Amino acid sequence: MINVGICGARGRMGMMNVESVLNDTALKLSAALEVQGHPDIGKDIFTFLGKPAGGVVITDNRDTFLSACDVVIDFTAASASLELIALAVQKPVGYVLGSTGFTDADRTKLADYANKIPIVYATNMSVGVNVLFALVERAAQLLGGFEVEIIEAHHDKKKDSPSGTALSLAEVVAKEFGLSLNEKGVYGRKGMVGERTKDEIGIHAVRAGDIVGEHTVMFCRDGERVELTHKAHSRKNFSLGAMQAAKWLSGKKNGLFSMRDVLGL
Ligand SMILES: NC(=O)c1ccc[n+]([C@@H]2O[C@H](COP(=O)([O-])OP(=O)(O)OC[C@H]3O[C@@H](n4cnc5c(N)ncnc54)[C@H](O)[C@@H]3O)[C@@H](O)[C@H]2O)c1
Repeated sequence: MINVGICGARGRMGMMNVESVLNDTALKLSAALEVQGHPDIGKDIFTFLGKPAGGVVITDNRDTFLSACDVVIDFTAASASLELIALAVQKPVGYVLGSTGFTDADRTKLADYANKIPIVYATNMSVGVNVLFALVERAAQLLGGFEVEIIEAHHDKKKDSPSGTALSLAEVVAKEFGLSLNEKGVYGRKGMVGERTKDEIGIHAVRAGDIVGEHTVMFCRDGERVELTHKAHSRKNFSLGAMQAAKWLSGKKNGLFSMRDVLGL
C-alpha cells in the first residue's frame, strides 16, 4: 500500500483526490494538509464525505504531514506548492503536482528539486487529454496539408479563453506542421475576414452552462475530415490521472516527469 497525503485537502480537487484515494485499493489515505487558519484544521476528513471518522485529521503542520506520506498529491497554488516541495525534498517523498500558475523561474526551481525527489507535474492530469495530445501529434504527422481548426467548450464561469489545453493542442499541430502559432493562430472569426489561408490554425471557444470541458481538433480537406475529441464529464478525470501518477512514482528515485511519461506516450 502506498501512503498518500493530500495537500489542499478541502479544495475542490483536494476533496476529489481524497475520495479517489479511498476508492483505490493500492492507495491508503495517510494525511491531509490545509493552509494555516483554515476553519477545518483538526477535523476528520472522512466526515466531509459522510463517512464515520477514519482517523485522518486535517493538519496545518507540514512536517507531520510529510512524515506520514510516501507520495504527496498537491493541487493548491504555485506558491504553496513550492514551499511544500522545498520541505518534501528533505524527507524524501514522491510528488504529484497539479497546481498551475508556475512562472519560468518557478519551473527552474521545480527541475532543481526534481534532482532530489521524483515529481510528476502536469497542468492537465487527465489521462484522456494526454492521450489526445499524442493522437493529435500523430494525426498532424500523417495529415500534412490538412486545414486544422480547434474548438473548445467550457462552462460560463471560465475566465480565460481559449483554454490552456486548446492552446497546447494548437502548439502540437504548429510544431508538427513546422509553423509558428504566434503567426498562424486565428482566434475566432467575424466580419469580412476573407478566405481562409491554407496554413492558419483556427481556435474557437464556446462558453455555456456547466460544460466541464470539451476539445475537438479537426483536420479537414476537400472531401473529408478527421475529428479527434475529448469530453470531460467531471473533474474526476484529473483526479484519476493523479492516482495513476502516484502509483507510477513508486520506486522512482528522482526526476521531473509528465503525464506522458506516466502513460508511456
Ligand atoms: N493539473 C490538473 O489537471 C488540474 C486540474 C484542475 C485544477 N488544477 C489546479 O489545481 C489547483 C487547485 O484547484 P481547485 O479548483 O481545487 O482550487 P480550490 O481553491 O478549490 O482548492 C485549493 C485548496 O488549496 C488550499 N491551500 C492553499 N494554500 C495552501 C497551503 N499553503 N497548504 C495547504 N493547502 C493550501 C486551499 O485552502 C484550498 O482548500 C489550481 O492551481 C488549479 O488550476 C489542476
